[in-house]
Amino acid sequence: MAIEQIVTELTTLWRFDYEPKIKALRDLYEVAKKDQWNAASDVPWDLEIDAEGDILDPSQDRMRDFDFIKALPEDKRIELARRRAAWTLSQFLHGEQGALLCCGQLVEAVPDMDGKLYAATQVIDEARHVEVFHRYIKRLDRVYPIDPTLQAVLNQILQADLWQMKCVGMQVIVESLAMGSFKLMKTGSRDPLLRKIVELTAHDEARHVSYGLIYMKDELPRMPEADRDRVEDFAIAAVEAMVGPPGRAGMGSQAGIYQGVGIDPEAAMREIREKLADPEFRAGRPSPFRDHVVPQLERIGLITERTAAKYRALGFEVGAAPATAG
Ligand SMILES: [Fe+2]
Ligand SMILES: [Fe+2]
Repeated sequence: MAIEQIVTELTTLWRFDYEPKIKALRDLYEVAKKDQWNAASDVPWDLEIDAEGDILDPSQDRMRDFDFIKALPEDKRIELARRRAAWTLSQFLHGEQGALLCCGQLVEAVPDMDGKLYAATQVIDEARHVEVFHRYIKRLDRVYPIDPTLQAVLNQILQADLWQMKCVGMQVIVESLAMGSFKLMKTGSRDPLLRKIVELTAHDEARHVSYGLIYMKDELPRMPEADRDRVEDFAIAAVEAMVGPPGRAGMGSQAGIYQGVGIDPEAAMREIREKLADPEFRAGRPSPFRDHVVPQLERIGLITERTAAKYRALGFEVGAAPATAG
């Protein structure tokens, strides 16, 4: 379906005090205005995608150790890599739209003028990201549907009643996940055009994470304890939905891609589930959650004695900030 409706609860705040209050956010707003780029003219669209070659570097491929991949003939492996790249980029594309919608909400919902002005710059950043990924994916293959788990998490962020949940959910969790995933895509891709797109986009996403970290470090200690507990619970619920149980996130909706190159999707899913259930196997692979999302949540003090055990149960090594910090 091309249109899907969700009903959101959004409290819109006017702010009649226009003086800068949170200097680091105002500085970030200045950086954001200077760092704009044009998806139509600053991307080398004249570079052709190699129709026969590998989009992904096999030596960097996180799936290279799976038996069902190793058993593929070379041409099918290359075709699968292309489809997997298009599937992953499609999730980036839908995630970018989620970020676009969420930032529109942040402009309305955050109480500080510094926060509103900065969020306005991010709206155009995310519009550019939607434009650039859509244009690239159409050349590569086709746009695949949004993964149901990703959509559920994005909907929860858009429907959250506290703006702090939106900020933690989008700016800290989803943006950190994007940063980690873009980093993997950049090192794992052989296509110069894709590498350039991911590099330009990741540069913006780093700023988006900074906004979440600066704002939430300032805001969380000021919140009433009951509300802060709700934000903490919101964060772990989002991480749990995307990470556990091992092997679930994103894998089910990829089955059709495997089938398309002659792989039995059931057997592939079984092997994926088995391997990802092995902590040693997981430890040896890069993980955007372990390497980016969870450390940022720790940094803003959102993993406390109340919630640390849940992160540990998902396999993350975390320390706990005191439950009543501030
Ligand atoms: Fe983005
Ligand atoms: Fe972003």
